[in-house]
Amino acid sequence: MAKVIKKPKSPATPAPASSAGKVPKKGGVKVAEESGSRNAPIINIGIDRQDRAAIAEGLSRVLADTYTLYLTTHNFHWNVTGPHFNSLHAMFMTQYTELWGSTDVLAERIRALGHYAPGSYAEFSKIATVPDVPQTPPKAMEMVRILVKGHETVSRIAREFIPVAEEAGDDPTADMLTARCTVHDQTAWMLRSLLEE
Ligand SMILES: [Fe+2]
Repeated sequence: MAKVIKKPKSPATPAPASSAGKVPKKGGVKVAEESGSRNAPIINIGIDRQDRAAIAEGLSRVLADTYTLYLTTHNFHWNVTGPHFNSLHAMFMTQYTELWGSTDVLAERIRALGHYAPGSYAEFSKIATVPDVPQTPPKAMEMVRILVKGHETVSRIAREFIPVAEEAGDDPTADMLTARCTVHDQTAWMLRSLLEE
């Protein structure tokens, strides 16, 4: 079957220049170790080795940020206080459950591309852009604000790597990252709405 050459997407509208809207680069950090052994056949799924490495690196960053956001959301589920306790406690549970489920899907896609998935606090803290959970639990609406920023950050990072997957012909990863952006954009909207009076 003839190989379909995909036209690269035109560059996305750049994020706002403010520090809040910028995706920091994580240069010089190799985040995706290749796996495999002599006994196993070489991966031959139609995606070049270099492309698989670049995609696995992007997925590793999305995984690290998703996990950090998962832990933040679960922490807030435990520690939220105030008159909105019931609704936020329940809402955070829905959100951390979804985030937790997505970490498995992201990690297993990295494995399918022939790389090891990062899965330790040390690795995640090196490559995550989302900040670690605050040491002292913030007020309820500050928690909501932190989660809005977290979801927006993961969405920007996932979106940044969609063209990398598309240009390599890796539609499953492009679809996965697109689905992640949909969830993060929607969740950010729901949380942001709580702050609009
Ligand atoms: Fe609980």
